[in-house]
Amino acid sequence: MSDLMSRIGYWYDHLAEVTPENLDVRRDVELVISQLDDGQLRVAHIDENNDVVVHEWVKQAILLLFRARGMTVSEAGPFEYHDKLELKHDYTRRGVRVVPGASARKGSFLSPGVILMPSYVNIGAWVGPGTMVDTWATVGSCAQIGANVHLAGGVGIGGVLEPANAVPVVIEDGAFIGSRCMVVEGARVGKNSVLGAGTIVTPTIPVIDAQTGEEISRGYVPDNCVVVQAQRRREFPGGEFFLPCVLVVRRLEPGETHDKVALNAILRDHEIPT
Ligand SMILES: CC(C)(COP(=O)(O)OP(=O)(O)OC[C@H]1O[C@@H](n2cnc3c(N)ncnc32)[C@H](O)[C@@H]1OP(=O)(O)O)[C@@H](O)C(=O)NCCC(=O)NCCS
Repeated sequence: MSDLMSRIGYWYDHLAEVTPENLDVRRDVELVISQLDDGQLRVAHIDENNDVVVHEWVKQAILLLFRARGMTVSEAGPFEYHDKLELKHDYTRRGVRVVPGASARKGSFLSPGVILMPSYVNIGAWVGPGTMVDTWATVGSCAQIGANVHLAGGVGIGGVLEPANAVPVVIEDGAFIGSRCMVVEGARVGKNSVLGAGTIVTPTIPVIDAQTGEEISRGYVPDNCVVVQAQRRREFPGGEFFLPCVLVVRRLEPGETHDKVALNAILRDHEIPT
């Protein structure tokens, strides 16, 4: 592994050598992508101190892929595509349910029990077991989505490829992300938290506790919080304006399920190979 890591580092520092004709770079980069695809490698993980650790070299390999591959045409029925990356395959073996209209790129990882409604999962993303990616939700490059998460209809989870050390969006186990929420630019949603429909979480939007009025963080919704999109008053030389904030309206007990967002197991049960 460390050999592969140092070879990727070498190629990243010698971009002039990275061409579709260079079979050595192709071999190294494609190996990383295959290992991402099967979940042997991840772009990031949460360590024992609860910090997000980014494996920069893996992201570098993804960036190199775009230089190391030429464009190809692919077709599905009447549709034509022109791109450098292929889609994931082999969903039966993976135990993943994929509804027509969904696509996940090779190099993303989908755990057993994932359901993809017509949605999109980009390269480098990692999606945990039992997670539902609902209609028109998009999981951006390298985003890390935990187990038993619900990304409701139209949710936008931002991607991060550049710069290589940028922290991806992290949604932790059991979180519910309401319809049309946007979580972008390395923002993080803690375990079991609930985002009301239309909430926008970015590193510049304050998360405020409705009980105390305190700003808890920016870009991080802690565990077990129920939050909604709200506004805060701000004075500017030009007048008084209302800027968005994320308001914590309720705290759940650890493991408590919010009654309005409980999942229906019947939608999730499908054949999962052991
Ligand atoms: C956040 C949510 C779970 C409600 O949580 P709750 O703990 O029951 O909170 P309440 O409904 O009591 O709402 C608390 C306050 O926030 C407000 N609020 C609720 N949802 C809101 C939202 N999405 N945006 C802004 N404010 C919201 C309520 O009006 C209420 O204010 P009020 O006391 O003045 O009436 C729910 O409103 C929601 O958004 N669910 C997600 C729906 C969805 O996306 N479904 C997906 C289908 S695919």
